[in-house]
Amino acid sequence: MSTKIFAHRGYSAKYPENTMPAFLAAHQCGAHGIELDVQLSKDGVPVIIHDEAVNRTTNGKGLVKDMTASCLTKLNAGQRFKWLNRKAAIPTLEEVLDWLSKTNLILNIELKNSVFPYKGMEEKVIKMVHDFDLSSRIIYSSFNHDSLVKIHKIDSSAETAALYKKAMPVPWEYAKSIHASAIHPHYRNVTKELIETAQQHHIQVRAYTVNKTKLIKQLISWKIAGIITDNPCHALSCLESSK
Ligand code: G3P
Ligand code: MG
Repeated sequence: MSTKIFAHRGYSAKYPENTMPAFLAAHQCGAHGIELDVQLSKDGVPVIIHDEAVNRTTNGKGLVKDMTASCLTKLNAGQRFKWLNRKAAIPTLEEVLDWLSKTNLILNIELKNSVFPYKGMEEKVIKMVHDFDLSSRIIYSSFNHDSLVKIHKIDSSAETAALYKKAMPVPWEYAKSIHASAIHPHYRNVTKELIETAQQHHIQVRAYTVNKTKLIKQLISWKIAGIITDNPCHALSCLESSK
């Protein structure tokens, strides 16, 4: 199976991260999938944003968990991108799934629930995915591995992936122990041996966040399952030239 290219927070090298313009641009350049970050608003709506606070990426201030969805979606998430002649708001997960259902993209939903646990988040996200009939195209990932176990309990057919930053001794065994079908390591932890051994154990490897040409080409030559990158167009051209 050829390596799949996932746009990290959408085409975030050029567009405001985790916004519809970034997702549309990733789709337009031919990415196989999109990775995005989900949190819950004060009124329990799954919204797409990376940080626990809105300060870095929007013109607002405060924590996502303390603001209603209606407040959050009115913020400008594209203020640093003056050239962008369309609105870039914080999207809701519902909005993204509605759009995604009209494409053939794979979606990696990262649950950002390591700092705040967001009670009931897993149930809400899974229900929404089921309502759009998108289960077969979704990969759930999180640094909070208890959350992945919870997802498996709610939906045993859900594909889950363990995110991790620091090296693990036997990650494929660990993945199996939490019912995950994949590992999403930081790229520094990835070796040819890791990919090959994990694959022998039927565990897929997708590395994040890979932007350097040399590394992208190396991972493709090692037949990694997925590359999560800020610049999907560039990674796709590396993939094309490797054929
Ligand atoms: O899911 C891969 C990657 O997004 C994890 O790190 O901090 O960019 O969400 P982060
Ligand atoms: Mg992420």
